[in-house]
Amino acid sequence: MQEDLPAKIKERMRRVYNPLNSVRSSDGNRVPTGIPGFDEMLSGGVPRGQLALLLGEAGVGKTIFSSQFLAAGLSRGENGVYVSLKDSKSRFMAQGKLSGWDFESAERDGKFAFVNWSPLEIEEDDFSVDGFLTATERSVKSVNAVRIVVDPLDILRYFYFDKEERKLIFRIFRRINRFNTTSIFVMSLTDGGVRSRQVQPEEYLAQSIIVMQHVFAGSTMERTIRVEKMLETPVDRTPRPYRLSDRGIEVYPRESVI
Ligand SMILES: Nc1ncnc2c1ncn2[C@@H]1O[C@H](COP(=O)(O)OP(=O)(O)OP(=O)(O)O)[C@@H](O)[C@H]1O
Ligand SMILES: [Mg+2]
Repeated sequence: MQEDLPAKIKERMRRVYNPLNSVRSSDGNRVPTGIPGFDEMLSGGVPRGQLALLLGEAGVGKTIFSSQFLAAGLSRGENGVYVSLKDSKSRFMAQGKLSGWDFESAERDGKFAFVNWSPLEIEEDDFSVDGFLTATERSVKSVNAVRIVVDPLDILRYFYFDKEERKLIFRIFRRINRFNTTSIFVMSLTDGGVRSRQVQPEEYLAQSIIVMQHVFAGSTMERTIRVEKMLETPVDRTPRPYRLSDRGIEVYPRESVI
C-alpha cells in the first residue's frame, strides 16, 4: 500500500521510522549536546530553543551530561550558564577539569557563569524562587548565554509545599523560555522511579524528556539513555547503552542492552 502514498508522506515515514537516516538531514536548527553517539540519536542535537528535562537516578551521570553540553557549547562559541541547586562551585569546576573542560578560564573570559543557588550553601531564610530566577537572569544576560543548565530542578520542590507555591513552576518555565536559550533542567528520580514515576507538570511543560537509567544485564549493571519525548523531530527512542569515562559520556547508538 505504501506505493500509493504521496512522496511527501513516504519521506516523512522514512524519517520517522529510520532515525539514523534523519541524522544525515540534520540542520543548523540543532544544538549538539557534544555527547558522541547521542547527537546521532537526536538527528544532530536538541532542537534550538527547546527546554529539555534530563531525568535519572542518583549517580547515572546527569551532571556530567550537563557539563559536557555546556563545554560543547563553549567550544563552538556558545556561552553558557550552570545554575547549581546542589553541587558547590569548586566541586563542579574540579569534576569538569577531570574531563578536560576548563570552565574556570571560560568564566574568566566572560563566556561562562556559575550560579550558586544551592540550599546547602544558602541559608533557608535567604532562599526564594524569585531570588533563584533573578540570579539566573542576571548571569544569562552578563555572559550572553545561549545554553543554560539547572541542576537539579527538583530541589525547588522542597521550597513549595502548598498549592499556591507549586504554581511557581510555571513562573520558572515562563522566565527561562523567555531567555531564548536551549536549556536542560536536571531532575532526580528515585530508584525504580523510571517506570513507576508520577507524571509531574514539568514533563508537560518541557519540550523534550531524556532519561538516563541504571539497568541490570545479567550480573552486571549497565547504563542506558533514551529520548522519551522530543517535539518537532523524529528521534531514536530505543534505550542505548552509554559509558562514563574521563572523557565524559559516550553513547553507543547502534547497541542495545538486553
Ligand atoms: N572518569 C570516570 N570514569 C567512569 N565513571 C565515572 C568517571 N567520573 C565519574 N564517573 C561516574 O559518574 C557518576 C557520577 O556522575 P554525576 O555526578 O554526573 O551523576 P549524577 O547523576 O549527577 O548524580 P547525582 O544524582 O548524585 O547528582 C558516578 O557514578 C561515577 O562513578
Ligand atoms: Mg548531579
